[in-house]
Amino acid sequence: MDGKVLVAYATKYGATAEIAERIGQVLRQAGLDVEVLAAERAGDVQVYKAVVLGSAVYIGQWRKQAAAFLKANEQALAGRPVWLFSSGPTGEGDPVELTQGWRFPKGLQPVADRIQPRDIAVFAGSANVEKMNFLEKFMLKNVKAPAGDFRDWEAITAWAASIAAALKESGPA
Ligand SMILES: Cc1cc2nc3c(=O)[nH]c(=O)nc-3n(C[C@H](O)[C@H](O)[C@H](O)COP(=O)(O)O)c2cc1C
Repeated sequence: MDGKVLVAYATKYGATAEIAERIGQVLRQAGLDVEVLAAERAGDVQVYKAVVLGSAVYIGQWRKQAAAFLKANEQALAGRPVWLFSSGPTGEGDPVELTQGWRFPKGLQPVADRIQPRDIAVFAGSANVEKMNFLEKFMLKNVKAPAGDFRDWEAITAWAASIAAALKESGPA
């Protein structure tokens, strides 16, 4: 298949980077040529045939590296298939229910509307108290979000498989 797929991510403590790596692995297993990179290290989007972009969520916002990437590459992203994901909610159950319907940062929604991603996913995240500073621990308690690793690898794998299927359908063999 022609062209590479970029999986770009923004992370603070590594949980989102591991989700991006898993997505990359699934795409590779499907025969795609994939690069998994931190958003701030990803170069020219024009060289990729498709882009998956994800970020950790802190206080309802994407990490600034992912937000900056989305804004800086809006035009190029609008011209190719794009999938967006967030890694955030901690706790058992539907991640969107856990965050009272939050799906994507409000401030970035107009950019996403122009890019028209194929999908915007929310995955449960991982809050590792050992890595957090005092303020972060306090804030997590304040929003009653439990600490722990709630990443749903099955959901992540299934989502990545759906991306692989879509790209295989659209691209040349
Ligand atoms: C201070 C703090 C605030 C957070 N705020 C949110 C939030 O608003 N929404 C959400 O879904 N998750 C929130 N989280 C959970 C993180 O997004 C989640 O743990 C994520 O998977 C961490 O990813 P990272 O290890 O890649 O940084 C917060 C975590 C901390 C410590």
